Amino acid sequence: MAPQRETGGMSDLTISDIHSLKRDGALDILAKISRVEKKTFPTNEAFPFGEELWRKKPNTRVLYATRAKGSQSDLIAYAVYVRQKGVALLHKVCVTEANRRQGVGQEVLSYIQQRLRKEGCQYIQLWVDEAREPARALYLRSGFEEREVIPDYYAPGRTGIKMVLDLERGA
Ligand SMILES: CC(C)(COP(=O)(O)OP(=O)(O)OC[C@H]1O[C@@H](n2cnc3c(N)ncnc32)[C@H](O)[C@@H]1OP(=O)(O)O)[C@@H](O)C(=O)NCCC(=O)NCCS
Repeated sequence: MAPQRETGGMSDLTISDIHSLKRDGALDILAKISRVEKKTFPTNEAFPFGEELWRKKPNTRVLYATRAKGSQSDLIAYAVYVRQKGVALLHKVCVTEANRRQGVGQEVLSYIQQRLRKEGCQYIQLWVDEAREPARALYLRSGFEEREVIPDYYAPGRTGIKMVLDLERGA
């Protein structure tokens, strides 16, 4: 039902959606995501990856990327967005530390773009902390434009930047 993608080329990532899983599988992935999330973000910025995301939040999509390793599969990355009519708000993109700088972030964003475009979504919007240089560079490279700069958006001294990607403008 939900699209699943085996990506070709150098990477052997599988990108999928927790809504394509049964409850136990979804809870297992959510627990793995939650552990990475707590390691990556300060407590007040950690997204709550609870069961309700799978059960009753159909507009909230949680994507995850895995890579096969023997009979196991490792969690490599995840992303969360909320669909509101023609706009998708991208809340989070995260690649596990050991797998950064290998094109995974770009691949996940490209998957999200393709999927939203197919679903008729017009824009992807996000807020990013000015200090998160890798994320800003990734978004710019993926076609996002900076639209608004708000000082103290996250906390005193922490500027927020609003970025938008027009899905109807080219591939
Ligand atoms: C931001 C993040 C998702 C990038 O993922 P990634 O898989 O390392 O990114 P990619 O390898 O696809 O990089 C694509 C491009 O983004 C830019 N980029 C990525 N990491 C960068 C870094 N550390 N410094 C500068 N540019 C960077 C580069 O232009 C890069 O292309 P290049 O490697 O050919 O130069 C990852 O660093 C991460 O998870 N960070 C912590 C969580 C976070 O800040 N998330 C965003 C806010 S929710």
